[in-house]
Amino acid sequence: MRGLVLAGGPGSRLWPVTCAVSKQLLPVYDKPMIYYPLSVLLQSGIKDIMVISTPRDTPRFQHLLGDGSQWGIAVSYAVQTSPEGLAQAVIIGSEFIGNRPSALILGDNLFHGCHFEKSLRSAAEITRGARIFAYRVQDPERYGVVTLDDAGQAHDLEEKPAVPKSPLAVTGLYFYDSTVSARARTLAPSARGELEITDLNRTYLDDRSLGVEVLDPEMTWFDAGTCNSLLDAAQYIETVEKRQGRKVCCPEEICWRMGHIGDSQLERLADEFQGNEYGTYLGSLLKEKA
Ligand code: DAU
Repeated sequence: MRGLVLAGGPGSRLWPVTCAVSKQLLPVYDKPMIYYPLSVLLQSGIKDIMVISTPRDTPRFQHLLGDGSQWGIAVSYAVQTSPEGLAQAVIIGSEFIGNRPSALILGDNLFHGCHFEKSLRSAAEITRGARIFAYRVQDPERYGVVTLDDAGQAHDLEEKPAVPKSPLAVTGLYFYDSTVSARARTLAPSARGELEITDLNRTYLDDRSLGVEVLDPEMTWFDAGTCNSLLDAAQYIETVEKRQGRKVCCPEEICWRMGHIGDSQLERLADEFQGNEYGTYLGSLLKEKA
């Protein structure tokens, strides 16, 4: 399975003025925002990842993440020339995806919670249909909204409905079978001129092949797409990390625990941080193991 991170988009949806940098390059507490969605793909067992961003920021992501070999994975890049919708990601990434299943995650989505890895591993095994994750929220009108029938099957999908039929927001993490790029090519732009992810997911709903997993309420999910949610996310990560002494969504740690890199490479990565708090944490993992 291959993974895509969509990390571009119109800055104006977060910032009052055009910001000099995409938000996914900014930190959420102690690490760049993109580390969080990347970590979700890594926890799914995905090692081949494509980052899609704007012409301006793709080189910045390349500078930050390189080719991924430092983490024992492969990271490649593609440019989305203008923000023409989330579903365009699987068209841009169609060659990279090839004839395989794929996962797409939005660069501003943060997930944290126990048992999530099990759900990810199971979703990464799908070979037919799609799997999305829903999360109960207070303000579903801000998101894609899914309605389930009595059997827990997807019954209806709407993008930012004025009057939501359910409190279940569709999170920005999608697992698809190998037909996804072909399906995206059949979509017409919406009234706001975008290829909508909800329309793409609706093609699977119409085929009765859209699986929905409702995330445990004890899980935490943030769409860090507003100033307030960005601050909330940073404060949440700070609280959890300080309390537990463990970093949330630390790609170096995940890759080391998964065996993509060994102890000596983790040590090298730790040294690169020249004694800062992040590097000290990576070093402490090795000491703990010893
Ligand atoms: O976070 C979950 C929600 O994400 C879903 O519930 C919605 O169904 C889905 O449409 C999306 O809603 P948003 O309002 O958060 O989408 P937004 O347009 O803000 O884009 C999400 C991220 O993707 C953001 O980081 C910007 C980036 N993006 C967006 C577009 C439209 C791109 O990189 N390219 C694009 O063309």
